[in-house]
Amino acid sequence: MMSINFGVIGGTGVYNPKMLTSLREVTVDTPYGNVQVKIGVYQNKEIAFLARHGFRHSVPPHAINYQANIMALKKLGVKKIIATAAVGSLNPSMVPGDFVLIDQFIDFTKGRKQTFFEEGKVLHIDMTEPYCPHLRKVIQENCPQEITLHSQGTYVCTEGPRFETPAEIRMFQMWGGDVVGMTSVPEVILARELGMCYATIATVTNFAAGISPNPLTHEEVKQTLAENGANLQKLIINSLEDLDEIQNCLCAEAYKEAGNLG
Ligand code: HPA
Repeated sequence: MMSINFGVIGGTGVYNPKMLTSLREVTVDTPYGNVQVKIGVYQNKEIAFLARHGFRHSVPPHAINYQANIMALKKLGVKKIIATAAVGSLNPSMVPGDFVLIDQFIDFTKGRKQTFFEEGKVLHIDMTEPYCPHLRKVIQENCPQEITLHSQGTYVCTEGPRFETPAEIRMFQMWGGDVVGMTSVPEVILARELGMCYATIATVTNFAAGISPNPLTHEEVKQTLAENGANLQKLIINSLEDLDEIQNCLCAEAYKEAGNLG
């Protein structure tokens, strides 16, 4: 049996692992709850696919069971995760339809469980490079020329589910944010706690509140995602093709130091 070294977390608009063959669905039990995961094959590699908001987009960002999702991928053996995310842009050079390979985050969430190490064990994980630099490099190197992929960007994570006020967006710009979304935190942190490499390909779906000439709608977000879904899929597939399971980075160091969880 092949081992499942790679995981894809589909955000809004990405519910269907069309690129995978021999699809099967499994339920993974974790101490945090059960998680539905689709497992399929792409070019002799087994890939686990998880829909962050559920396969019917029924779970809003603040209510996602991030701990269960990440622990489920860990239990399947996943070492490298490519996540997708819809974002609003604060940066005039990142326009709707562009992709951004996030390299930093600013955490503006309020009520989320951000760690597996709640009692009995103290772990302070390094966040100098929250998104795996090697995984990001593979994605960048495999980006087809016709696709616009910004090689870095700072993601401001809000609590949601509401969109932001223009005043908040102005503040995030002053902080150095490039894009705003509702899900990267705590997902990226939990992946690091369990020693998995993690990267986010963000799709810019709109200019953020106060920058966009129109009020924001979820419909607009979904429409831009639909228009750019084929490109996103191409980007993910090309990257998966080139990935191996060796972690040539520091992503697993803190996890090893802390002992074993999951
Ligand atoms: N704000 C927060 N999350 C988002 C946005 C936005 O403008 N667009 C897509 N996800």
